[in-house]
Amino acid sequence: MGEVTTGTTLDADSATLPRSDAPGQGLAVRGLSVRFGAVQALSDVSFDVPPGKIFGVAGPNGAGKSTLIGVCTGHVRPDRGTIELDGQRLSGRPHALCHAGVARMFQVPQIFSSMTVRENVETGLIFGRAWSDGSASVDPILDLTGLADRASDAASGLDLLARKRVMLAAALATGPRVLFMDEPLGGLNEAEIDAFSSLIRRVRAELALSVVLVEHKIRALAQLSQRIMILDFGKTLRIDTPDKILSDPEIITLYLGKKHEY
Ligand SMILES: Nc1ncnc2c1ncn2[C@@H]1O[C@H](COP(=O)(O)OP(=O)(O)OP(=O)(O)O)[C@@H](O)[C@H]1O
Ligand SMILES: [Mg+2]
Repeated sequence: MGEVTTGTTLDADSATLPRSDAPGQGLAVRGLSVRFGAVQALSDVSFDVPPGKIFGVAGPNGAGKSTLIGVCTGHVRPDRGTIELDGQRLSGRPHALCHAGVARMFQVPQIFSSMTVRENVETGLIFGRAWSDGSASVDPILDLTGLADRASDAASGLDLLARKRVMLAAALATGPRVLFMDEPLGGLNEAEIDAFSSLIRRVRAELALSVVLVEHKIRALAQLSQRIMILDFGKTLRIDTPDKILSDPEIITLYLGKKHEY
């Protein structure tokens, strides 16, 4: 993938970006297409995610789910298509999109082992758009994510669920309006899936975030999402309610199949 340099409406290197005067529209993705050599990873993908809603994304391996997140967070340059957040066109490198209100939780837990929990979350505050007022505290985010009691603990000693909480908290500390999560439930046991699912619900409700949730665990995805998109070979096969998606024999048989966890 090439370095991201596109964008007609935003300066990719600017530290702060103009804000929309019409907040509350959420995320609008239109006609995204991405090709990697011979592979059409995304083909004319469009969807909307209003504030406070969780938009689930599922599909077979290689369907283009991570590419979709990569494009929307500035890591992959699209060949075509637009992304708008609260009516403002987004483009540029990841840090520019972060400052515009876009946050991402990566699939593989990435935290700073040499730092405490609080310091890890503060990196999000420093990197994100909330830093400018100089008085922001991560305490409310530590409370929200269930980390307040462990704020002074070394991150190196945390189990997987706690590491995921720290990653989510650091992403929230950047002050996002839209949050992208790539298989956040991966590697967790049933009890941990319930705990982290509850946290995702709490976060989207309390912060009124638009959430794009890529997840192979389709039952948990259906419980969390208001709408689900099924991708297949880069194309949108369906966008529908979880009930309709789960009761569609074509989707169950052909696209979610035995490889995937229910
Ligand atoms: N940087 C890249 N260079 C070349 N091809 C790529 C690149 N990234 C992804 N691809 C290809 O694009 C297609 C979509 O990949 P992507 O990682 O988006 O799928 P996915 O739906 O996230 O799959 P998984 O469920 O395995 O995570 C695949 O064929 C993949 O091999
Ligand atoms: Mg992926």
